[in-house]
Amino acid sequence: MTNTLLLTPHTLGTLSLPNRMVMAPMTRFRAAEDGTPLPVVADYYAQRASAGLIITEGIWPSCTGQAGWRMPGLQTTKHVEGWRAVTEAVHAAGGRIFAQLMHGGRQGHPLSRLTGDIPAGPSPVPVPGPVHVRDGGKADPVTPRVMTRDDIHQAVQDHVSAARNAISAGFDGIELHGANSYLIHQFLADNTNLRDDEYGRNTIEDRIRFPLEVVTAVANAVGPERTGLRLSPGNPQFGMEEANPGPVYRALVAALDGLGLVYLHLTDNDHYPALTDLRAHWHGPLIANVGENRAATTRADGEAVLLTGRADLVSFGRAFIANPDLPERFERQGPLNAIDPVDLYTHGGAGYTDYPFLNALSAAQVRVTPTCTDAV
Ligand SMILES: Cc1cc2nc3c(=O)[nH]c(=O)nc-3n(C[C@H](O)[C@H](O)[C@H](O)COP(=O)(O)O)c2cc1C
Repeated sequence: MTNTLLLTPHTLGTLSLPNRMVMAPMTRFRAAEDGTPLPVVADYYAQRASAGLIITEGIWPSCTGQAGWRMPGLQTTKHVEGWRAVTEAVHAAGGRIFAQLMHGGRQGHPLSRLTGDIPAGPSPVPVPGPVHVRDGGKADPVTPRVMTRDDIHQAVQDHVSAARNAISAGFDGIELHGANSYLIHQFLADNTNLRDDEYGRNTIEDRIRFPLEVVTAVANAVGPERTGLRLSPGNPQFGMEEANPGPVYRALVAALDGLGLVYLHLTDNDHYPALTDLRAHWHGPLIANVGENRAATTRADGEAVLLTGRADLVSFGRAFIANPDLPERFERQGPLNAIDPVDLYTHGGAGYTDYPFLNALSAAQVRVTPTCTDAV
């Protein structure tokens, strides 16, 4: 047993976490074509139930927000049933799980959307190409349709419906994806929001309006104690440009501070030290991610964040993909499996549910999908 802050229990809202290690949201494309998570998704998350908290991969709230083919949704009854199997498996294995709602905005392509239409974003600015499309192909990006005010209001409502669906599917809460170039981030960034209306670039108040509307509406619908938000100020992924994130994000975080959200999940950045700069403006629970656009977060990275008081919890992405029992490995100072990128985005269990546990018994306890050996 090792003495470590990461392995110290923590209370987050109404949840008692056995440790301060959060599994970061990670897209893995294990959904059926209609967006229903495949049965293997339940196994994958149940295997990782020893995380203090699991945050799912990005899930589209409605098909208008579908960013990629075989990404999962939370819009239909089938989606809810598919996710219920996941939450039940995680809870049965002793875990806690939030759904990340990820509206693609300009991200997406007619060839990778169930609707087959051109995606809409704040302004007609395409993602830099080429982009990945259905069945492993690549295509030139499309110029997004400009969201009307009705589209914007509808997007808020779609997040509310999906959040309610998430709660009926048994999730412990919702993380709104305001990071890494998706819709909420597109309203915040310089180059993707050229609007001159009340959701536009002219004032900071306008720029943060859509993010605040979504967060407030979802928090009102399912409770602030079940609503978290992820932000990645200054993250240049997928061509996002934010020359001076400080004033925008300080204003946003200050406006969010009184809402009683269950947490803010912040990714630090080489261009802008979000954790250091925003800590003083946020008085609620804070989850830090320090690996975005960097080498995978290590145990030492996580400990340093907690030791310096920069956050209450730390999210680990790639380390949890390759090590379903990451907390136990930290506790026993065990070796870490290396991540194999080959099957990151394929559709089966290979490279997904077959990473070995330190203790083979733990793996057997969380395998829930019947296989042919169960039938004999
Ligand atoms: C395969 C993969 C998929 C990801 N998908 C998402 C996603 O759906 N939503 C999100 O907010 N971040 C996503 N991320 C970013 C991770 O949540 C995390 O911030 C990043 O991997 C850095 O953490 P790490 O160094 O611990 O891996 C993804 C990262 C990876 C490696």
